[in-house]
Amino acid sequence: MYLLSHSVGCLPKQAERTLSERYLNPWQQQGGNAWPAWLGVIDDFCRELALILNCDSKDICPQSNVSSGLTKYLMAMPLRADKNVILMHASAFPSMGFVAEVLTRFGYQFALIDEQHCPRDVAVWAEHITDKTAVILITHVHSNTGVKSPVAALAKIAHNKNVKVVVDIAQSVGVVPIDLKKWQADCVLGSCVKWLCGGPGAGFMWLEPSQLKHSQPLDVGWFSHADPFEFDIRHFEYAHNAKRFWGGTPNVASYATALGSLQVINQLGVKAIATHNRDLRQKVYTAAAPLLLSKHELDHQGGTLCLDFQPAALEVFIEDLKTSGAYFDLRSNVLRLSLHIYNTSEQASQLADMLRKLRL
Ligand SMILES: Cc1ncc(COP(=O)(O)O)c(C=O)c1O
Repeated sequence: MYLLSHSVGCLPKQAERTLSERYLNPWQQQGGNAWPAWLGVIDDFCRELALILNCDSKDICPQSNVSSGLTKYLMAMPLRADKNVILMHASAFPSMGFVAEVLTRFGYQFALIDEQHCPRDVAVWAEHITDKTAVILITHVHSNTGVKSPVAALAKIAHNKNVKVVVDIAQSVGVVPIDLKKWQADCVLGSCVKWLCGGPGAGFMWLEPSQLKHSQPLDVGWFSHADPFEFDIRHFEYAHNAKRFWGGTPNVASYATALGSLQVINQLGVKAIATHNRDLRQKVYTAAAPLLLSKHELDHQGGTLCLDFQPAALEVFIEDLKTSGAYFDLRSNVLRLSLHIYNTSEQASQLADMLRKLRL
């Protein structure tokens, strides 16, 4: 039973096909002339992703991963000495904090909202956002707790204080429906490795178009150029869209793989995946609830059940999961179980039965 989609989503057959047909075959058959076909892969990738996010594909730029996208966005912003604080919640993915910490060398300051506060609490964010805050990083779904942030409400209070809003959707995209038109974010960063089942390497940035006029990325390359094939070393002109955040030669293989996965996700529809996930989560959660140290509101969570079992129950349940051959993981005392579209209702019932037996 595969329960690790919060880490790496399963490989769809379609992804193997697009990797072979759209990346390996053009390479084998055309060598250096494969570039038009390869760039077509990345265009198609952006188009499929735009359907998932309800945005324009020209506002999407490929990135290696979320951390690197965050660095690029923050380094591209005009920085004021009196408005230089990057604010995030302490339960953001640690890599995001590492980025902010390193950027203190370039004039930023880094502030965290302590774990004792719930990241969903809009009033807490409102208290922490000061005149000095330049940008907040919102984690749409938190990887260790599953808590889902009220992005639109947080973006509203940030914008009221003239603060930029970056959203990390690595842990939500593909299982939680996302409509970028409703969020009013400035920048959204994600990757395809988890619920999108697209493997590592196909990261992305979405940039709100009005951000372009004051975004001057430092980490650039020929694909950041308005005309990548101009090849004049004396003339650099930023691309007139989000692609200015791109850089040098892209990693086509990752996007060719992820393209097939995105096609499958779009055929299935994220809404249908979310409904299936919600049903299965409910089944398992109902059986687990009496054994947990804290309660969860499933509608305020992402796709993963992050369950903090009483220690004795945890020990036995882990043994049962191992015996059943399940793939799962543990972050300190929190067991993470992810139920994707390829998990069946029978599997959720099997987990629920294991949990009910523990209560006897
Ligand atoms: C919420 C969240 N953000 C980001 C990442 C990964 O960031 P990156 O793509 O920089 O490796 C993860 C990985 O687990 C995550 O859960």
